[in-house]
Amino acid sequence: MTGQLTLEDYLRRYSETAPDALAVAAAVDAIATGAIEIADLTGGGHLPDALGLTTGRNSDGDLQRDLDLQADAILRRCLAMRPVAAIASEEMREAEIGDRGARICVAMDPLDGSSNIDINMTVGTIFSILPAPDDLSIAFHQRGTAQLAAGFVTYGPQTSLVLTLGDGVDIFTLDRGSGHFRLMRRRVQISEACEEFAINASNRRHWDTPVRAFVDECLAGTEGPANHNFNMRWIGSLVAEAYRILTRGGVFLYPSDARPGYGDGRLRLVYEAHPMAFIMEQAGGAASTGRERILDLAARSLHQRVPLIMGSSNEVRRVEELNCDPLLVASVSAPLFARRGFFRL
Ligand code: F6P
Ligand code: MN
Repeated sequence: MTGQLTLEDYLRRYSETAPDALAVAAAVDAIATGAIEIADLTGGGHLPDALGLTTGRNSDGDLQRDLDLQADAILRRCLAMRPVAAIASEEMREAEIGDRGARICVAMDPLDGSSNIDINMTVGTIFSILPAPDDLSIAFHQRGTAQLAAGFVTYGPQTSLVLTLGDGVDIFTLDRGSGHFRLMRRRVQISEACEEFAINASNRRHWDTPVRAFVDECLAGTEGPANHNFNMRWIGSLVAEAYRILTRGGVFLYPSDARPGYGDGRLRLVYEAHPMAFIMEQAGGAASTGRERILDLAARSLHQRVPLIMGSSNEVRRVEELNCDPLLVASVSAPLFARRGFFRL
């Protein structure tokens, strides 16, 4: 029964299904074990004396907090005890080779949204599990379609694990009393009725025309081509946005924009966009750069960024339509319609 099945039992059943499944199950179990430790740290606020402290910048220039590094160390310690051929992390410049004979590789963002940690908002861990190729130097340059499993953990009011093993999306919640994750939602499907959009609107002046046109359509609600009203949310924490979309539908956009360094958006392909795209598709949604399916992409470099539009498939497709059809964009941006735009320049 849902609510009774522990993650351990769920993974035990799964591990008997395919040759790679045992290794995948072991890695997910290791990440879940690490996540319980990270939940204690983040949930302790200032008690563990680590929150909000900035220690430097990661290889990609993002501010790195002490907690980012602690989360990275916890997960690597847990994964080191399992057969994993290579590990890539947002916090490490290069991938690390582990057990060369192992069948899988793990890419992770140990603490996503960590800029939110000192304001007591939801943060999380994102991971992607890939088959280990013979040549480990190309382990993290595989297409997103190669993923064997992907998931994320949210450290918020609840600690929840969202998981796909390539056959739907299931959600587990940490039962703090027993220390076990329990299956709470099975085969999650993203609602087709998209009533919320999420984008950092402070960047509007830097967006390109199709993104502005899409957001104008959302803002126009029943008075525009979308013909229904939207609510707006921006949490600034990818895991929390993804969890919301899985729960009640919606669309999330972190597009490319004209700011220096944002030509490919902000989010990283290997350990943010790929796993999120796998989860979205497995839940009946979509994920795109606005032009291409995220899962069809293979990273040229480990920390490569990519524009990410994800969530309810009709809205993701609409952004793609607007990107591919300048005439459509022109009609959406026509003067009559533009008068109704809230963020008109
Ligand atoms: O990992 C990057 C991240 O923190 C995501 O969790 C979030 O979606 C995004 O950055 C927020 O970016 P910005 O601060 O530019 O709105
Ligand atoms: Mn992140």
